[in-house]
Amino acid sequence: MALAFTTDEIHAIRSTTPGCTDDLIHLNHAGSSLPDQRVLDVQIDHLRREAAIGGYEAAAEVAEQTQGEVYASIGRLIGCGVHEVARMEHATAAWNAAFWAIPKRPGQRIITHDHDYGANWIAFLRAVEVHGVVIDRIPSDAHGQIDLERLAAALEDPDDVALVSLAWVPTSGGLVNPAAAVGALTRSAGVPFLLDACQAVGHLDVDVEAIGCDAMSATGRKYLRGPRGTGFLYVRDDSIERLVPAQPDHHGADWTAIDGYEFADGARRYEYWEYSHAGWLALGAAVDVALELGVDRIQATVAQRASQLRDQLIASSMTVHDEGIAKCGIVTMSHPRLDAIDVVARLRATGVNASSTFAGSARADMEARDLPPMVRLSVHCTTTVDEVERAVAAVASL
Ligand SMILES: Cc1ncc(COP(=O)(O)O)c(C=O)c1O
Repeated sequence: MALAFTTDEIHAIRSTTPGCTDDLIHLNHAGSSLPDQRVLDVQIDHLRREAAIGGYEAAAEVAEQTQGEVYASIGRLIGCGVHEVARMEHATAAWNAAFWAIPKRPGQRIITHDHDYGANWIAFLRAVEVHGVVIDRIPSDAHGQIDLERLAAALEDPDDVALVSLAWVPTSGGLVNPAAAVGALTRSAGVPFLLDACQAVGHLDVDVEAIGCDAMSATGRKYLRGPRGTGFLYVRDDSIERLVPAQPDHHGADWTAIDGYEFADGARRYEYWEYSHAGWLALGAAVDVALELGVDRIQATVAQRASQLRDQLIASSMTVHDEGIAKCGIVTMSHPRLDAIDVVARLRATGVNASSTFAGSARADMEARDLPPMVRLSVHCTTTVDEVERAVAAVASL
């Protein structure tokens, strides 16, 4: 197990993060985190260059980075080849690109867990209408994570299953689902496994080979500390030919004849031609920052800080809702008297950023646990012990 950052190391990371100031306690890293100055500089410098010489001309100057180096950085981050990475605008775009590419026959099941994300559930419901598939909900086990025995039983007739979808870290709590154990089951059943790693990438060590997922979606602005409007999709090498992009353009596919086209090589067949070059470059910089810090050390620091936050909230009479054997940087809680929106607004007025989680993004889980809207506080490796204490004091004083 890697060591958490020391106090001095945390202060060094904070010193290059412009959003880390004494006036603001940012506990909304699971919403949108605070980028390093290097990420900001890369993005702004490229925007300036576009304004100075033209967007296409500026793109040509950084083609080596946008076409090669950013993919290589992401490959190092998640343990895959550059041809298995597609550039995306955000996690939902990545997830949908993979979801709608997976073949589905009427009557086949989409296996999912109650903690799957709201946008993903909307797609399941749409697929029921479009493809006549059936949603097969696997409940949580006693720890709140996907019940692996029930999943194994649901995979006994693999031909009957279109895919397994899992939120590795759900939006609605600190749970870390056992993604690799799910991958072992889907691989032995030969069923496509779509992993939503939106809240995981950047603060959990990711090795797609060890997990065994066929596709994985991620976003830039959350734990990766990248810019908004960026993300990526991973598609496993041997799954690339099994899946068929639903809406390719003339970058994802080559228009070879008036009545024909050929998909681009690798995962780039899921990309569109137009994108924010500044954002993509800055995402690459954010990945490099995370790699230099060491994702294992980020993970250890975040886990330690989140655990301190949970303990102190409980000691201050708050109800903490997080489940799971392994927990991450997301902490969800309820106040004994105030509703979640009220708590978030009042905290904001005292310089503490928090967010709230509603049924719209986590209905299956929140109904199953009969939860009210929750306050969500999320820490990162920039969060200090002092900040946790001050934030809990602010919550307790409401
Ligand atoms: C678990 C999970 N999946 C997917 C998403 C969607 O990510 P994006 O907003 O980047 O599309 C979120 C956003 O909060 C999330 O929490």
